[in-house]
Amino acid sequence: MRLTWPGRQWREGDEPPTSTERGATLTAAELVGDGRAAHRLVHGDGLDVVASLEAEGLGGQVDLVYVDPPYASDRDYVAEARLDGPADGRALRTLAYEDRWSYERGGVGAYLDMLAPRLDALTRLLSPRGTIWVHLDWRAAYLVRSILDEILGRDAFKNEIVWRRAPNLGRQAASGQFGRTLDTLVVYGREKATLRPPTRLEPIEPSAIRWDDEGRPFTSAPRGDYTDASIAKLDAEGRVHRTASGRVYIKYFLVKNGEGVLCRERRVDALWTDVAPLRHAAASERTGYPTQKPRALLERIIACASEPGSLVVDTFAGSGTTGVAAHALGRRAILADKSPVAIATARARLLRDEAPLRVERTAGTSVPEAKGVKVQVKADRVRLVEPAEPLAWAVGTEELGVFHATWHAERVPGAKPVPAALEARVPRRPDLCVRVFCDDGSVGTWGASRGKGDLAEGAST
Ligand SMILES: C[S@@+](CC[C@H](N)C(=O)[O-])C[C@H]1O[C@@H](n2cnc3c(N)ncnc32)[C@H](O)[C@@H]1O
Repeated sequence: MRLTWPGRQWREGDEPPTSTERGATLTAAELVGDGRAAHRLVHGDGLDVVASLEAEGLGGQVDLVYVDPPYASDRDYVAEARLDGPADGRALRTLAYEDRWSYERGGVGAYLDMLAPRLDALTRLLSPRGTIWVHLDWRAAYLVRSILDEILGRDAFKNEIVWRRAPNLGRQAASGQFGRTLDTLVVYGREKATLRPPTRLEPIEPSAIRWDDEGRPFTSAPRGDYTDASIAKLDAEGRVHRTASGRVYIKYFLVKNGEGVLCRERRVDALWTDVAPLRHAAASERTGYPTQKPRALLERIIACASEPGSLVVDTFAGSGTTGVAAHALGRRAILADKSPVAIATARARLLRDEAPLRVERTAGTSVPEAKGVKVQVKADRVRLVEPAEPLAWAVGTEELGVFHATWHAERVPGAKPVPAALEARVPRRPDLCVRVFCDDGSVGTWGASRGKGDLAEGAST
Protein backbone atom coordinates (compact mmCIF):
# COMPACT_ATOMS: atom_id res chain seq x y z
CA MET A 1 0.00 0.00 0.00
CA ARG A 2 1.57 3.30 -1.03
CA LEU A 3 0.09 6.78 -1.01
CA THR A 4 1.69 9.25 -3.39
CA TRP A 5 1.40 13.02 -3.60
CA PRO A 6 3.00 15.66 -5.81
CA GLY A 7 6.60 16.25 -4.75
CA ARG A 8 6.53 13.48 -2.16
CA GLN A 9 9.79 13.63 -0.16
CA TRP A 10 9.19 11.01 2.51
CA ARG A 11 11.28 7.91 1.75
CA GLU A 12 12.21 9.32 -1.64
CA GLY A 13 15.84 9.77 -0.61
CA ASP A 14 15.29 13.48 -0.17
CA GLU A 15 14.26 14.06 3.43
CA PRO A 16 13.06 17.53 4.34
CA PRO A 17 15.97 19.44 5.88
CA THR A 18 16.06 20.05 9.61
CA SER A 19 17.95 22.86 11.25
CA THR A 20 19.24 20.67 14.05
CA GLU A 21 21.58 17.74 14.12
CA ARG A 22 19.50 14.52 14.12
CA GLY A 23 20.25 12.05 16.86
CA ALA A 24 22.32 14.48 18.93
CA THR A 25 22.25 14.09 22.69
CA LEU A 26 19.39 15.95 24.29
CA THR A 27 20.58 18.78 26.50
CA ALA A 28 19.19 18.77 30.03
CA ALA A 29 17.91 22.18 31.03
CA GLU A 30 16.09 21.57 34.31
CA LEU A 31 15.54 18.85 36.87
CA VAL A 32 12.70 18.86 39.39
CA GLY A 33 12.36 16.01 41.89
CA ASP A 34 13.66 12.47 41.66
CA GLY A 35 15.80 12.23 38.51
CA ARG A 36 15.42 8.45 38.14
CA ALA A 37 11.62 8.53 38.21
CA ALA A 38 11.38 11.70 36.16
CA HIS A 39 9.15 12.20 33.16
CA ARG A 40 10.90 13.93 30.28
CA LEU A 41 9.71 17.07 28.55
CA VAL A 42 11.74 17.95 25.48
CA HIS A 43 11.63 21.24 23.63
CA GLY A 44 12.25 20.44 19.98
CA ASP A 45 10.97 19.01 16.74
CA GLY A 46 9.56 15.51 17.24
CA LEU A 47 11.75 14.10 14.44
CA ASP A 48 14.94 15.19 16.17
CA VAL A 49 13.66 14.02 19.54
CA VAL A 50 12.88 10.52 18.28
CA ALA A 51 16.29 10.30 16.56
CA SER A 52 17.90 11.22 19.90
CA LEU A 53 15.81 8.66 21.80
CA GLU A 54 16.86 6.01 19.31
CA ALA A 55 20.49 7.03 19.80
CA GLU A 56 19.93 6.52 23.54
CA GLY A 57 18.80 2.94 22.84
CA LEU A 58 15.06 3.48 23.31
CA GLY A 59 14.18 1.93 19.96
CA GLY A 60 11.75 -0.95 20.60
CA GLN A 61 11.21 0.08 24.24
CA VAL A 62 7.99 2.10 24.12
CA ASP A 63 4.62 0.47 24.80
CA LEU A 64 2.48 3.41 23.75
CA VAL A 65 2.91 6.27 21.33
CA TYR A 66 0.02 8.73 21.33
CA VAL A 67 0.21 11.78 19.08
CA ASP A 68 -2.27 14.54 18.42
CA PRO A 69 -0.54 16.41 15.60
CA PRO A 70 -1.88 19.46 13.78
CA TYR A 71 -4.92 18.37 11.73
CA ALA A 72 -4.17 20.27 8.48
CA SER A 73 -6.80 22.81 9.54
CA ASP A 74 -5.15 25.84 7.89
CA ARG A 75 -5.35 27.93 11.05
CA ASP A 76 -3.15 29.49 13.67
CA TYR A 77 -3.75 28.49 17.30
CA VAL A 78 -3.59 30.99 20.13
CA ALA A 79 -3.06 30.11 23.79
CA GLU A 80 -5.13 32.09 26.24
CA ALA A 81 -3.90 32.35 29.82
CA ARG A 82 -6.65 33.72 32.06
CA LEU A 83 -5.34 35.70 34.97
CA ASP A 84 -8.59 36.54 36.78
CA GLY A 85 -11.11 33.99 35.59
CA PRO A 86 -13.51 34.18 32.65
CA ALA A 87 -15.77 36.94 34.03
CA ASP A 88 -13.04 39.55 34.44
CA GLY A 89 -11.62 38.85 31.02
CA ARG A 90 -7.99 39.64 31.83
CA ALA A 91 -6.16 37.21 29.59
CA LEU A 92 -2.77 36.93 27.90
CA ARG A 93 -2.90 35.67 24.34
CA THR A 94 0.08 34.19 22.48
CA LEU A 95 0.47 32.30 19.23
CA ALA A 96 1.00 28.69 20.31
CA TYR A 97 1.50 27.02 16.92
CA GLU A 98 0.65 27.25 13.24
CA ASP A 99 -1.21 24.64 11.22
CA ARG A 100 -1.11 26.27 7.76
CA TRP A 101 -0.76 24.28 4.57
CA SER A 102 -2.00 26.60 1.83
CA TYR A 103 -1.29 25.86 -1.83
CA GLU A 104 1.72 28.25 -1.70
CA ARG A 105 3.09 26.37 1.29
CA GLY A 106 2.81 23.02 -0.47
CA GLY A 107 -0.77 22.08 0.49
CA VAL A 108 -1.65 18.66 1.82
CA GLY A 109 1.54 17.19 0.29
CA ALA A 110 3.65 19.43 2.54
CA TYR A 111 1.50 18.37 5.50
CA LEU A 112 2.13 14.71 4.72
CA ASP A 113 5.85 15.38 4.24
CA MET A 114 5.81 16.83 7.77
CA LEU A 115 3.76 14.06 9.38
CA ALA A 116 4.82 10.85 7.59
CA PRO A 117 8.53 10.85 8.56
CA ARG A 118 7.59 11.66 12.17
CA LEU A 119 5.16 8.75 12.35
CA ASP A 120 7.70 6.54 10.60
CA ALA A 121 10.33 7.42 13.22
CA LEU A 122 7.89 6.98 16.13
CA THR A 123 7.02 3.42 15.06
CA ARG A 124 10.69 2.49 15.48
CA LEU A 125 10.33 3.18 19.21
CA LEU A 126 7.50 0.66 19.61
CA SER A 127 8.08 -2.45 21.70
CA PRO A 128 6.72 -5.82 20.44
CA ARG A 129 3.49 -5.11 22.40
CA GLY A 130 3.46 -1.42 21.47
CA THR A 131 0.70 0.54 19.79
CA ILE A 132 0.69 3.92 18.06
CA TRP A 133 -2.40 6.11 18.35
CA VAL A 134 -2.77 9.06 15.98
CA HIS A 135 -5.49 11.54 16.88
CA LEU A 136 -6.94 13.39 13.88
CA ASP A 137 -10.23 14.48 12.38
CA TRP A 138 -11.93 14.18 8.99
CA ARG A 139 -9.23 16.25 7.29
CA ALA A 140 -6.35 13.76 7.57
CA ALA A 141 -7.48 10.53 9.26
CA TYR A 142 -8.05 8.76 5.93
CA LEU A 143 -4.58 9.73 4.70
CA VAL A 144 -2.85 8.64 7.90
CA ARG A 145 -4.45 5.20 7.61
CA SER A 146 -2.73 4.76 4.24
CA ILE A 147 0.58 6.04 5.63
CA LEU A 148 0.49 3.65 8.57
CA ASP A 149 -0.48 0.81 6.21
CA GLU A 150 2.71 1.60 4.33
CA ILE A 151 4.88 1.86 7.46
CA LEU A 152 3.56 -1.04 9.54
CA GLY A 153 1.49 -3.04 7.07
CA ARG A 154 -2.30 -3.46 6.86
CA ASP A 155 -2.21 -6.33 9.34
CA ALA A 156 -0.94 -3.97 12.04
CA PHE A 157 -4.24 -2.05 11.96
CA LYS A 158 -6.06 -2.34 15.29
CA ASN A 159 -8.84 0.21 15.38
CA GLU A 160 -10.30 3.39 14.04
CA ILE A 161 -11.91 4.85 17.13
CA VAL A 162 -14.46 7.60 16.74
CA TRP A 163 -14.61 10.00 19.67
CA ARG A 164 -17.56 12.35 19.90
CA ARG A 165 -15.71 15.51 20.88
CA ALA A 166 -18.62 17.95 20.81
CA PRO A 167 -22.41 17.98 20.83
CA ASN A 168 -24.15 18.65 17.52
CA LEU A 169 -25.13 22.25 18.19
CA GLY A 170 -25.12 25.70 16.59
CA ARG A 171 -23.10 26.11 13.40
CA GLN A 172 -22.46 22.37 13.07
CA ALA A 173 -26.13 21.48 13.42
CA ALA A 174 -27.17 24.15 10.89
CA SER A 175 -24.42 23.42 8.36
CA GLY A 176 -26.58 21.67 5.78
CA GLN A 177 -24.70 18.42 6.38
CA PHE A 178 -24.23 16.05 9.29
CA GLY A 179 -22.36 17.79 12.11
CA ARG A 180 -18.60 17.21 12.09
CA THR A 181 -18.50 16.62 15.80
CA LEU A 182 -16.11 13.68 15.75
CA ASP A 183 -12.39 13.05 16.06
CA THR A 184 -10.73 9.86 14.86
CA LEU A 185 -8.07 7.87 16.64
CA VAL A 186 -6.18 5.66 14.24
CA VAL A 187 -4.55 2.76 16.11
CA TYR A 188 -1.87 0.38 14.80
CA GLY A 189 0.12 -2.15 16.78
CA ARG A 190 3.16 -4.38 16.73
CA GLU A 191 2.77 -8.16 16.59
CA LYS A 192 2.13 -8.73 20.32
CA ALA A 193 -0.09 -5.70 20.85
CA THR A 194 -3.30 -6.38 22.76
CA LEU A 195 -5.65 -3.67 23.93
CA ARG A 196 -7.73 -4.13 27.06
CA PRO A 197 -10.93 -2.14 26.46
CA PRO A 198 -12.58 -1.06 29.71
CA THR A 199 -16.25 -1.53 30.49
CA ARG A 200 -18.87 1.17 30.90
CA LEU A 201 -22.26 1.21 32.57
CA GLU A 202 -25.23 1.55 30.20
CA PRO A 203 -28.70 2.24 31.68
CA ILE A 204 -31.29 -0.46 30.92
CA GLU A 205 -34.92 0.27 30.00
CA PRO A 206 -37.06 -0.63 33.07
CA SER A 207 -39.21 -2.89 30.84
CA ALA A 208 -36.11 -5.03 30.04
CA ILE A 209 -35.24 -5.65 33.71
CA ARG A 210 -36.03 -9.04 35.28
CA TRP A 211 -35.30 -10.49 38.71
CA ASP A 212 -33.98 -13.97 39.41
CA ASP A 213 -35.00 -16.26 42.29
CA GLU A 214 -32.37 -14.67 44.51
CA GLY A 215 -33.75 -11.19 43.82
CA ARG A 216 -30.86 -10.15 41.57
CA PRO A 217 -31.76 -7.80 38.69
CA PHE A 218 -30.72 -8.92 35.22
CA THR A 219 -31.43 -8.34 31.57
CA SER A 220 -31.09 -10.94 28.86
CA ALA A 221 -30.09 -11.19 25.22
CA PRO A 222 -30.25 -13.99 22.63
CA ARG A 223 -27.29 -16.38 22.69
CA GLY A 224 -25.90 -14.92 19.45
CA ASP A 225 -22.72 -16.68 18.36
CA TYR A 226 -21.96 -18.36 21.70
CA THR A 227 -20.89 -21.99 21.13
CA ASP A 228 -22.55 -24.87 23.00
CA ALA A 229 -19.41 -25.18 25.14
CA SER A 230 -19.63 -21.49 26.11
CA ILE A 231 -23.33 -21.86 26.90
CA ALA A 232 -22.54 -24.83 29.16
CA LYS A 233 -19.94 -22.74 30.98
CA LEU A 234 -22.34 -19.80 31.39
CA ASP A 235 -25.05 -22.22 32.55
CA ALA A 236 -22.74 -23.44 35.32
CA GLU A 237 -22.30 -19.80 36.38
CA GLY A 238 -26.08 -19.34 36.54
CA ARG A 239 -26.03 -16.99 33.58
CA VAL A 240 -28.37 -18.82 31.22
CA HIS A 241 -32.08 -18.04 31.12
CA ARG A 242 -34.46 -20.49 29.33
CA THR A 243 -37.91 -19.37 28.27
CA ALA A 244 -40.97 -21.57 28.65
CA SER A 245 -40.54 -22.57 25.00
CA GLY A 246 -36.91 -23.61 25.71
CA ARG A 247 -35.16 -20.71 23.96
CA VAL A 248 -31.78 -19.84 25.39
CA TYR A 249 -30.89 -16.32 26.51
CA ILE A 250 -27.79 -15.03 28.23
CA LYS A 251 -28.33 -13.26 31.54
CA TYR A 252 -26.49 -10.02 32.23
CA PHE A 253 -26.67 -9.09 35.89
CA LEU A 254 -27.21 -5.39 36.51
CA VAL A 255 -25.45 -2.92 38.78
CA LYS A 256 -26.46 0.56 39.89
CA ASN A 257 -24.61 3.60 38.55
CA GLY A 258 -23.84 6.71 40.63
CA GLU A 259 -27.44 7.92 40.25
CA GLY A 260 -28.90 4.59 41.42
CA VAL A 261 -30.05 3.58 37.90
CA LEU A 262 -29.72 -0.11 37.02
CA CYS A 263 -27.16 -0.59 34.28
CA ARG A 264 -25.53 -3.32 32.26
CA GLU A 265 -21.75 -3.36 32.26
CA ARG A 266 -20.61 -3.42 28.63
CA ARG A 267 -17.19 -3.61 27.06
CA VAL A 268 -16.37 -0.31 25.32
CA ASP A 269 -16.32 -0.57 21.51
CA ALA A 270 -14.72 1.74 18.95
CA LEU A 271 -17.44 4.38 19.29
CA TRP A 272 -16.60 6.64 22.23
CA THR A 273 -19.51 8.84 23.15
CA ASP A 274 -18.88 8.73 26.88
CA VAL A 275 -15.75 10.89 27.17
CA ALA A 276 -16.95 14.45 27.66
CA PRO A 277 -15.45 17.34 25.68
CA LEU A 278 -12.84 19.46 27.42
CA ARG A 279 -15.33 22.31 27.92
CA HIS A 280 -17.24 20.03 30.31
CA ALA A 281 -14.13 19.26 32.34
CA ALA A 282 -13.36 21.08 35.59
CA ALA A 283 -12.11 24.62 35.00
CA SER A 284 -8.87 23.68 36.78
CA GLU A 285 -8.13 21.18 33.99
CA ARG A 286 -8.38 23.79 31.22
CA THR A 287 -4.94 25.28 30.68
CA GLY A 288 -5.95 27.68 27.91
CA TYR A 289 -3.68 25.85 25.45
CA PRO A 290 -5.57 25.53 22.14
CA THR A 291 -6.70 22.04 21.07
CA GLN A 292 -6.04 20.60 24.54
CA LYS A 293 -7.64 17.16 24.89
CA PRO A 294 -9.52 15.90 27.97
CA ARG A 295 -7.42 14.04 30.47
CA ALA A 296 -10.12 11.34 30.74
CA LEU A 297 -9.54 10.51 27.07
CA LEU A 298 -5.82 10.00 27.59
CA GLU A 299 -6.40 8.02 30.78
CA ARG A 300 -8.61 5.59 28.86
CA ILE A 301 -6.01 5.20 26.11
CA ILE A 302 -3.07 4.78 28.47
CA ALA A 303 -4.91 2.34 30.75
CA CYS A 304 -5.96 0.04 27.90
CA ALA A 305 -2.69 0.13 25.93
CA SER A 306 0.12 0.07 28.50
CA GLU A 307 1.11 -1.31 31.89
CA PRO A 308 2.23 0.45 35.06
CA GLY A 309 5.89 1.34 34.47
CA SER A 310 5.49 1.41 30.66
CA LEU A 311 7.12 4.15 28.61
CA VAL A 312 4.59 6.41 26.92
CA VAL A 313 5.72 8.86 24.21
CA ASP A 314 3.95 11.92 22.78
CA THR A 315 5.98 14.15 20.45
CA PHE A 316 3.12 16.60 19.73
CA ALA A 317 2.50 17.11 23.43
CA GLY A 318 0.84 20.56 23.57
CA SER A 319 -0.33 21.24 27.12
CA GLY A 320 0.99 17.88 28.37
CA THR A 321 -2.29 15.95 28.71
CA THR A 322 -0.52 12.67 27.93
CA GLY A 323 2.06 13.43 30.62
CA VAL A 324 -0.38 14.15 33.45
CA ALA A 325 -2.50 11.12 32.56
CA ALA A 326 0.60 8.88 32.37
CA HIS A 327 1.83 10.21 35.72
CA ALA A 328 -1.54 9.55 37.38
CA LEU A 329 -1.50 5.97 36.08
CA GLY A 330 2.09 5.19 37.08
CA ARG A 331 3.59 5.23 33.57
CA ARG A 332 6.68 7.17 32.51
CA ALA A 333 6.13 9.83 29.89
CA ILE A 334 8.47 11.29 27.31
CA LEU A 335 6.86 14.40 25.85
CA ALA A 336 8.11 16.75 23.17
CA ASP A 337 6.83 19.86 21.45
CA LYS A 338 8.47 22.50 19.32
CA SER A 339 6.38 25.35 20.71
CA PRO A 340 7.88 27.18 23.71
CA VAL A 341 4.33 28.02 24.82
CA ALA A 342 3.49 24.31 24.90
CA ILE A 343 6.63 23.54 26.91
CA ALA A 344 5.90 26.27 29.48
CA THR A 345 2.28 25.09 29.76
CA ALA A 346 3.12 21.39 30.05
CA ARG A 347 5.93 22.06 32.53
CA ALA A 348 3.66 24.03 34.86
CA ARG A 349 0.90 21.45 34.51
CA LEU A 350 3.11 18.47 35.35
CA LEU A 351 4.62 20.26 38.33
CA ARG A 352 1.18 21.19 39.65
CA ASP A 353 0.55 17.44 39.68
CA GLU A 354 3.86 16.93 41.51
CA ALA A 355 5.34 14.88 38.69
CA PRO A 356 9.15 14.59 38.89
CA LEU A 357 10.39 16.20 35.70
CA ARG A 358 13.43 16.54 33.51
CA VAL A 359 13.20 19.33 30.94
CA GLU A 360 15.50 18.98 27.93
CA ARG A 361 16.00 20.43 24.50
CA THR A 362 17.34 19.34 21.14
CA ALA A 363 20.48 20.89 19.68
CA GLY A 364 19.78 24.28 18.19
CA THR A 365 16.47 24.88 19.98
CA SER A 366 16.36 28.27 21.61
CA VAL A 367 14.00 29.59 24.24
CA PRO A 368 12.85 33.22 24.12
CA GLU A 369 14.36 35.13 27.04
CA ALA A 370 12.15 36.92 29.55
CA LYS A 371 13.76 40.23 30.43
CA GLY A 372 13.47 42.33 33.57
CA VAL A 373 13.29 39.58 36.17
CA LYS A 374 13.58 41.16 39.61
CA VAL A 375 14.18 39.15 42.76
CA GLN A 376 14.68 40.13 46.38
CA VAL A 377 16.52 37.89 48.84
CA LYS A 378 16.30 38.44 52.60
CA ALA A 379 17.74 35.68 54.78
CA ASP A 380 15.86 32.51 53.79
CA ARG A 381 13.14 34.38 51.88
CA VAL A 382 13.26 34.74 48.12
CA ARG A 383 10.67 37.07 46.66
CA LEU A 384 9.83 37.40 42.98
CA VAL A 385 9.20 41.09 42.29
CA GLU A 386 8.99 41.07 38.48
CA PRO A 387 7.12 39.62 36.63
CA ALA A 388 4.29 39.93 39.13
CA GLU A 389 2.03 37.33 37.45
CA PRO A 390 4.26 34.54 36.14
CA LEU A 391 2.89 31.27 34.82
CA ALA A 392 5.44 29.60 37.08
CA TRP A 393 8.78 30.16 38.75
CA ALA A 394 11.31 28.10 40.65
CA VAL A 395 14.24 28.50 43.00
CA GLY A 396 17.25 26.22 42.95
CA THR A 397 20.84 25.95 41.87
CA GLU A 398 22.59 25.55 38.56
CA GLU A 399 25.20 22.91 37.86
CA LEU A 400 26.89 22.51 34.49
CA GLY A 401 24.04 24.45 32.88
CA VAL A 402 21.30 22.29 34.45
CA PHE A 403 18.91 24.09 36.79
CA HIS A 404 17.97 21.94 39.82
CA ALA A 405 14.73 23.30 41.24
CA THR A 406 14.31 22.84 44.98
CA TRP A 407 11.16 24.97 45.29
CA HIS A 408 8.58 25.79 42.62
CA ALA A 409 5.21 27.50 42.25
CA GLU A 410 2.71 27.59 39.40
CA ARG A 411 -0.49 29.46 38.70
CA VAL A 412 -3.51 27.15 39.11
CA PRO A 413 -6.09 27.65 36.35
CA GLY A 414 -9.77 27.63 37.22
CA ALA A 415 -12.95 29.67 37.32
CA LYS A 416 -10.90 31.91 39.60
CA PRO A 417 -7.23 31.18 38.85
CA VAL A 418 -4.90 31.07 41.85
CA PRO A 419 -1.72 33.06 41.15
CA ALA A 420 1.64 31.42 41.81
CA ALA A 421 2.93 32.21 45.32
CA LEU A 422 5.52 34.97 45.01
CA GLU A 423 7.61 34.20 48.07
CA ALA A 424 9.74 31.12 48.66
CA ARG A 425 11.44 30.02 51.86
CA VAL A 426 14.60 28.16 50.99
CA PRO A 427 17.85 27.57 52.83
CA ARG A 428 20.20 30.47 52.23
CA ARG A 429 23.15 29.74 49.91
CA PRO A 430 25.31 31.95 47.70
CA ASP A 431 24.69 30.09 44.46
CA LEU A 432 20.91 30.42 44.58
CA CYS A 433 19.31 30.77 41.18
CA VAL A 434 15.77 31.67 40.05
CA ARG A 435 13.98 30.70 36.83
CA VAL A 436 10.77 32.39 35.71
CA PHE A 437 8.41 30.89 33.13
CA CYS A 438 6.03 33.22 31.30
CA ASP A 439 2.80 32.55 29.43
CA ASP A 440 4.41 33.44 26.10
CA GLY A 441 6.96 30.63 26.55
CA SER A 442 9.83 32.92 27.50
CA VAL A 443 12.11 32.00 30.39
CA GLY A 444 13.99 34.44 32.64
CA THR A 445 16.94 33.68 34.87
CA TRP A 446 18.23 35.46 37.96
CA GLY A 447 21.08 34.47 40.18
CA ALA A 448 24.42 32.77 40.18
CA SER A 449 24.97 32.36 36.45
CA ARG A 450 23.65 35.86 35.64
CA GLY A 451 25.76 37.71 38.20
CA LYS A 452 22.84 38.45 40.55
CA GLY A 453 20.20 40.27 38.57
CA ASP A 454 18.37 43.42 39.34
CA LEU A 455 18.11 43.61 43.09
CA ALA A 456 20.88 43.08 45.59
CA GLU A 457 20.37 40.90 48.62
CA GLY A 458 18.31 42.70 51.20
CA ALA A 459 17.15 45.47 48.89
CA SER A 460 13.57 46.65 49.35
CA THR A 461 11.01 46.47 46.59
C1 LIG B 1 -3.13 19.49 18.59
S1 LIG B 1 -1.79 20.10 19.53
C2 LIG B 1 -1.58 18.90 20.78
C3 LIG B 1 -2.51 19.12 21.94
C4 LIG B 1 -2.31 18.14 23.08
N1 LIG B 1 -2.75 16.82 22.72
C5 LIG B 1 -3.00 18.59 24.35
O1 LIG B 1 -3.84 17.85 24.89
O2 LIG B 1 -2.73 19.70 24.79
C6 LIG B 1 -0.44 19.82 18.43
C7 LIG B 1 0.92 20.21 18.99
O3 LIG B 1 1.92 19.77 18.07
C8 LIG B 1 3.00 20.68 18.13
N2 LIG B 1 3.83 20.47 16.94
C9 LIG B 1 3.53 20.73 15.64
N3 LIG B 1 4.52 20.32 14.83
C10 LIG B 1 5.47 19.76 15.65
C11 LIG B 1 6.72 19.13 15.40
N4 LIG B 1 7.20 19.00 14.17
N5 LIG B 1 7.43 18.67 16.46
C12 LIG B 1 6.95 18.82 17.74
N6 LIG B 1 5.77 19.41 18.01
C13 LIG B 1 5.03 19.86 16.98
C14 LIG B 1 2.34 22.04 18.23
O4 LIG B 1 3.22 22.99 18.77
C15 LIG B 1 1.16 21.71 19.15
O5 LIG B 1 1.46 21.98 20.48
